[in-house]
Amino acid sequence: MRHLIDIKELTVEEIEELIKVAKDIMQFPEKYSEKCKHKKLATLFFEPSTRTRLSFEAAMMELGGNVLGFSEAKSSSTSKGESVSDTIRTVGCYADIIAMRHPKEGAPLVASLKSTVPIINAGDGGHNHPTQTLTDLLTISCEKGRLDNLTIGLCGDLKFGRTVHSLITAMSRHKNIKFVLISPDELKIPEYVKEEILEKNKIEYIETNDLEKYMDELDILYMTRVQRERFLDEEEYLRLKDSYILNNLKLKNAKNDLCIMHPLPRVNEISTEVDSDLRAAYFRQVKYGKYIRMALILKLVNQNNENNVEKNNTKKEIINEMKCKNPSCITTIEQELDHVFILTDEEKNIYRCKYCEHIYKEENWWKSI
Ligand code: NCD
Repeated sequence: MRHLIDIKELTVEEIEELIKVAKDIMQFPEKYSEKCKHKKLATLFFEPSTRTRLSFEAAMMELGGNVLGFSEAKSSSTSKGESVSDTIRTVGCYADIIAMRHPKEGAPLVASLKSTVPIINAGDGGHNHPTQTLTDLLTISCEKGRLDNLTIGLCGDLKFGRTVHSLITAMSRHKNIKFVLISPDELKIPEYVKEEILEKNKIEYIETNDLEKYMDELDILYMTRVQRERFLDEEEYLRLKDSYILNNLKLKNAKNDLCIMHPLPRVNEISTEVDSDLRAAYFRQVKYGKYIRMALILKLVNQNNENNVEKNNTKKEIINEMKCKNPSCITTIEQELDHVFILTDEEKNIYRCKYCEHIYKEENWWKSI
């Protein structure tokens, strides 16, 4: 069965097909209004959300289906100590497809290993957010008319911003993409994204603290908020929260056809004066999100299981010899899980946690249990 946990699981061709379907839905919505009749989508949100949850729910309703679920961990059996795996096995008895958001990284992957219905990752901690990326790709395709030959500025919290990690992963597969990574030193892009995606795919990128320095070169400027909920130290958050505030003055050297994006919610990293600039695409981006989720739900609900051969992982694994040190990893709360590290880079002998992709590369680390 196909799930969507990480954007990498979709081929470029599959993403192109989803974009094509989403554009068709935008043009002929009535054609799709009963495609999910009698089907149910469960939205399991263990972490707050406005856009993503409502967008999934609106998407299912526009396909003629029904929705059920919860919007905070407090109102689920998690508050009684139920494991993710048990919650999923239960919800799979009621729903045909599940969209799940969780503060722990790797939780949707764990869910997918136990689920009898397709799971969609609607955001796991600071890790991944594949459906925001599909939204971003549809936005770029509609607003710029292409997914290649683009210089993309990503600005703000590149460390904890899961939308950024998934977007880099997806865009790195297109031709002639350059990234300008704009962040304070404390919020730079994680090493695993640099090593496993940018460097492995030989993608050109620059890291800078300066929002205006490369403004005139950008085709896309993707602003993000500083992710307060992921900070262990509130003081540090307060010090960094206003690192970048985009306003009209800062856009003075920008291209006339720049596309300004933001996954939202905005805190104050884009001044409201920018909203009336035609280049500000962030509210249009919200609309695109519903259409691409409709296309995704259709693909996963109607999948033909016989055609989906599960891919065997042939990479070397180390099991239960070491615990993941990432405090946000799902293994820190799910007692029954095996601790699995996968050899992701043979040359450098780098192992990463199967669930959250945190690195373990110290020599003889397995002896330190
Ligand atoms: C993003 C998220 O949840 O990661 N929002 C969204 O899904 N539209 C970005 C954010 O919360 O900053």
